[in-house]
Amino acid sequence: MLTTGDLVIILDAKGRRYLVRLEEDGHFGHHAGGIDHDEIKRAGYGGRINTAKGANFWILRPTLEDYVLLMKRGAAVTYPKDAAAMLLMLDLSPGERVLEAGSGSGGLSLFLARAVGPEGSVVSYERRPAFKARAEENVRAWGAGNVSFVLGALEEAELEAESFDAVALDLMEPWTVLENAVSALKTGRKLVCYLPNITQVVQLLEEIRTRRLPLLKRRVLEVGHREWDVRPPIAHPHFRQIGHTAFLAEFVKLAPFRGQAVDEGQGQGQPGGGHGEDPVVTKAGGDDPSD
Ligand SMILES: C[S@@+](CC[C@H](N)C(=O)[O-])C[C@H]1O[C@@H](n2cnc3c(N)ncnc32)[C@H](O)[C@@H]1O
Repeated sequence: MLTTGDLVIILDAKGRRYLVRLEEDGHFGHHAGGIDHDEIKRAGYGGRINTAKGANFWILRPTLEDYVLLMKRGAAVTYPKDAAAMLLMLDLSPGERVLEAGSGSGGLSLFLARAVGPEGSVVSYERRPAFKARAEENVRAWGAGNVSFVLGALEEAELEAESFDAVALDLMEPWTVLENAVSALKTGRKLVCYLPNITQVVQLLEEIRTRRLPLLKRRVLEVGHREWDVRPPIAHPHFRQIGHTAFLAEFVKLAPFRGQAVDEGQGQGQPGGGHGEDPVVTKAGGDDPSD
């Protein structure tokens, strides 16, 4: 049985979701008929409630995706489909340490925190006090205890070199924090940026190339989800879809090239001095689909 303080999703017949924290003597109001929180507690996760007005509601356990999309926001959150892809790119394991900026509403922090688990940790920088407070509250209310929020700009942080297993950046101008973020990242590990505009991706790559930062671009991609409405005989893509969210740009931190310091190397940023081919698909290998 659910108890006071538990979070639930109430799903209505039209598929709308409501995130509710159960209270003593609480009541959920809805035009199709309200429900007392005591009724929800008795129904439990997976339960169905029929109101006196004949409406059906389903009581569901909130997933992290539900929570991040429905929690209170300061800044716009990293969309969960993109957060999931970022976890894949960052290749996180339980017990690892992640550096994040900016915290925003704490959406991405929660996905990172779950991936590294209670033995791991997330250190998240946010330069706006109100957003830091919102992120802290959202993460606390979900119950994740492994995120430390720091008020300040990441470019001004004093970080130990090679002390993080991954870096996740969701901020407008990630190139401003790159020196600090790259220094703090362990060689061979990943840095991923979430960027709404392709112009930001282009500027990021250009900054990496001209500043000869030891980052190898692995891929730039978008994550597309195309949801379908399947209620036979109806079966077609939904008329309303999630539109564009962001581009994800993934990099690996390189070791100094043949004993040279990175800034003495030959454009260590990318293979071929910054404008080369992706090493995974080469003409010599005969794998290039355009051949
Ligand atoms: C789009 S929000 C991040 C949202 C977050 N990923 C989430 O899922 O809730 C971007 C945040 O970065 C913060 N920010 C921008 N530049 C920063 C910097 N140099 N250091 C720290 N935070 C920064 C902004 O104040 C803003 O809150």
